[in-house]
Amino acid sequence: MTKMNLKLLKNRAKEEIEKVKDLKELNEIFNKYLGKKEELALILRSLERLPKTKRMKIGKSANELKNFLKIEFEKKSQEIKEKIQKEAEEKEWIDITVPGEKPVLGHLHPLTIAKRKVEEIFQVMGFSIIEGPDIETEWYNFDALNIPKEHPARDIWDTFYLKNGLLLRTHTSPVQIRHMEKNNPPLRIIVPGSVFRHEATDPSHEFQHYQIEGLMVDKRISVANLKAIIGEFFRRFFEKDVKFRLKPDYFPFTEPSFDIGISCVICNGKGCSVCKKSGWLEVAGAGMVHPNVFKASGLIPKDWQGWAFGFGLERLAMLKYKINDIRLFRSGDLRFLTQF
Ligand code: DAH
Repeated sequence: MTKMNLKLLKNRAKEEIEKVKDLKELNEIFNKYLGKKEELALILRSLERLPKTKRMKIGKSANELKNFLKIEFEKKSQEIKEKIQKEAEEKEWIDITVPGEKPVLGHLHPLTIAKRKVEEIFQVMGFSIIEGPDIETEWYNFDALNIPKEHPARDIWDTFYLKNGLLLRTHTSPVQIRHMEKNNPPLRIIVPGSVFRHEATDPSHEFQHYQIEGLMVDKRISVANLKAIIGEFFRRFFEKDVKFRLKPDYFPFTEPSFDIGISCVICNGKGCSVCKKSGWLEVAGAGMVHPNVFKASGLIPKDWQGWAFGFGLERLAMLKYKINDIRLFRSGDLRFLTQF
């Protein structure tokens, strides 16, 4: 073994180390040169057979080479690790100037928005919000509201009867009775809730819709109170002065009874397709609570006076937002819903 051989070995190793691209390769080359059974180890072992002076000289050079290679390997390994780290950092780099992706947020349904608005307006005027069951008895839905069995007035409400003798309430008026049974006047309540009718659907009718019932009972309550509250409600709900009128009508549970109409908010009363050229839109039924209704609720009719009304919530929302088909509310059509 000569110094020449060591020098060749050194150059070869250096060259190979330089070409290495990853840690695995580097490890293989390390083993090839510095492994226990590999070239340099063999050289060192073969020294035993040489005369002393030569052995010392070559031994020294071989050890130097060994140390040199160790340092080279270490350097290369450091270099590769730094490169890996740099690449990872480049990949993970975040451009904070790129516009962010907006998450799609949900929002309230237009009917919920309208319902909350109605509730807020009446709460400010001292009304409590009361709820009742969707499934009712005939007593609460009809009899107690002065609509006896076989009375033709029942025909006004096409009813879904259930097999167990109960029914889906056709209006929110039964909650008037339920509330008066349990609470003593003076009373001011509104009752938002679903009602169901066995009816064909068209742009202004659905077999399920929302009503907002209102009830005020005290010692001396008149139609003037009804007009004042309703007028204030319209002003706040439509956020403008709205002309309205009470037209005589018939409901079994009120006497006298009215149809409440507002001056068409679409054409300002001039006459359009929505108000059928009349300039007026019917939005609620109302009236003074019938004595029989007080009686059915356990109150003494001569002691109390009251008014009641029933609004269709969809109708109110359609007028406020200028929606021309009631069926859109439950269509689930996002093109409609995302406009709110
Ligand atoms: N319940 C009636 C209906 O659904 C609406 C109504 C009319 C409610 C007059 C009332 C009222 O409270 O006084 O057709």
